[in-house]
Amino acid sequence: MKITDDIIYIGVNDRKLDLFEGQYIVPEGMAYNSYLIIDEKTAVMDSVDGNFSAEWLENIESALGGKAPDYLVIQHMEPDHSSSITAFMDKYPEAVIVSNAKSFPMLKNFYGAEYPERQLTVGEGDTLSLGKHILSFIAAPMVHWPEVIMTYDSADKVFFSADAFGKFGALDADEDWACEARRYYFGIVGKYGAQVQTLLKKAAALEINTICPLHGPVLSENLGYYLDLYNTWSSYGVESEGIVINYTSVYGNTKKAAEKLAALLEAKGCPKVAVNDLARCDMAEAVEDTFRYGTVVLATTTYNGDIFPFMRQFIGDLTERGIKNKKIALIENGSWGPMAIKKMTAMLEGMKNIEYAENSVTIKSALDAESEAKLEALAEELTK
Ligand code: FEO
Repeated sequence: MKITDDIIYIGVNDRKLDLFEGQYIVPEGMAYNSYLIIDEKTAVMDSVDGNFSAEWLENIESALGGKAPDYLVIQHMEPDHSSSITAFMDKYPEAVIVSNAKSFPMLKNFYGAEYPERQLTVGEGDTLSLGKHILSFIAAPMVHWPEVIMTYDSADKVFFSADAFGKFGALDADEDWACEARRYYFGIVGKYGAQVQTLLKKAAALEINTICPLHGPVLSENLGYYLDLYNTWSSYGVESEGIVINYTSVYGNTKKAAEKLAALLEAKGCPKVAVNDLARCDMAEAVEDTFRYGTVVLATTTYNGDIFPFMRQFIGDLTERGIKNKKIALIENGSWGPMAIKKMTAMLEGMKNIEYAENSVTIKSALDAESEAKLEALAEELTK
């Protein structure tokens, strides 16, 4: 696949992976992207997951007609991109690794590999000339690891964005970009919004025709759409009008309350109500919904003097990513000593710009007239 006259896609699709990064389900697989820039000197942009080394090396060989590449640019050392480096270096003994100073110790730690004579260390503002193509390097620490560099090719106006602008899903998956890019973003770099904002400011100074990420499709049209979404996500802004209700339920009574509230909100004109059963849904979907909407309802039971485990994990997922700028409404259930609201509030303490709804709801075992009236009042407040 040609990206431009001189840039060729040489990545691979992984349709066997069960959990990306050991935790995210990827029903449509995963792509590990890699690119080849052909000029007087040739550069390979990143390697791929080690299960696909042979396929990737064949892609390089066939694109170059057997000629050896000069450089392997390593933008990111996470093993989904780095675990074929040693196979490449063995096959091409003249090739030089171009990477950030922080990458080389990682190469040794992960793979026991050192190439002291075959390293070119680059950082922010450095350039590498391939001939017509001059590569400029951009430091992007914590998007998604500290060693990350990104690369701009001024000749073809291509921005190689490492993990940024990636998504879950193999390249042959026919699915909406934003849905799986949002789940990927908040799962993987959600905590590092400030660093993504810094990156976006650097990217704004570049004239970009094409974004080549390490996962997901190459982006070459309507780039403002993707950049705007990244700006919203990384500034913890509201992407969509609506309300998300995240609940856990032991015997179905808290579930009934969540569903009743959803119906009330819809009846009162809320444009979208997303409802997640945290014990059964993909929790990464619930995380992305929670960052997507401005208003969040958390409903759970009191359990062992604390809150139900799935909700505890979920709130941990939110605070770990620095949830902020939300209106949060709380619903608790407790048959003899309800204390879930107190526990949830304590877990969210320290999060910035959180406004709690004036109305909260306490259910004692099952909905009754009193708690139903509180649900009604909460729905009224959230839609007014
Ligand atoms: Fe695609 Fe952070 O690795």
